[in-house]
Amino acid sequence: MSKNPNHMRPPSPWSVPGVPSSSHLVITEIRGMPFTPDEELDLAFDPSLISPDVKSKMPPDLHIRPLASTDYHRGYLTLLSVLTTTPDPGEAAFVAQFNAMRETPRTYFPIVVVSKASDRIIANGTLFIERKFAHNTASVGHLEEGVVAEDYQGKKLGPRVFQALTYVSESLGCYKTILNCSDKNVRFYENCGMVKKGNEMVKYAPERTHTPKL
Ligand SMILES: CC(C)(COP(=O)(O)OP(=O)(O)OC[C@H]1O[C@@H](n2cnc3c(N)ncnc32)[C@H](O)[C@@H]1OP(=O)(O)O)[C@@H](O)C(=O)NCCC(=O)NCCS
Repeated sequence: MSKNPNHMRPPSPWSVPGVPSSSHLVITEIRGMPFTPDEELDLAFDPSLISPDVKSKMPPDLHIRPLASTDYHRGYLTLLSVLTTTPDPGEAAFVAQFNAMRETPRTYFPIVVVSKASDRIIANGTLFIERKFAHNTASVGHLEEGVVAEDYQGKKLGPRVFQALTYVSESLGCYKTILNCSDKNVRFYENCGMVKKGNEMVKYAPERTHTPKL
């Protein structure tokens, strides 16, 4: 872990006037892990895009917000590993990827749910917005990495995150929101109001000794 996480952070576009984005705040988050309010975090996007309706329906012990640059320390990768292979790339690589996503304007919208008691991330979903030339230069929302921690499944957090993601997608003008999922989750997404359409296709790159990085 870096001794000074701030040296990797560009100024937050969502910083709140009067709230210092000092190393003190970051160190408090990492060591004590009390619940950290949005104002003290370096967020991936403007938190006013989180659906007020979804916020009002969250259980009082949970909080929904954009991903933060320090969520590496809140179990974010452990949560993703419930869904897919997620080796730990280290904090510097995590922060670099976070910054690369945020520097691509109006494109990546990772939304997380935090347990206030532990400051642990217990659910995630990411909206990725694709710009198109077709349909009169339209935009399409893609949902990725929808996952709820095993000890929080069955409490309707998946549908809440889904609603928060489609709220952003539709608020920003996407004419449709799409995702790929396994057969076992088709009914879950139908419950959320989606319909099944088309087929998923994939071509994996061959095994390579060196994989170029974007
Ligand atoms: C799938 C997942 C996101 C659902 O989130 P959740 O918060 O546990 O959802 P809930 O169990 O509270 O379900 C909400 C509703 O969907 C239904 N549901 C949940 N999972 C379902 C499934 N696999 N198939 C059919 N229905 C399902 C529930 O019965 C419930 O229905 P109701 O509203 O009629 O009572 C979560 O279980 C998860 O993270 N699973 C592992 C990772 C994964 O597979 N992610 C999906 C990637 S595409």
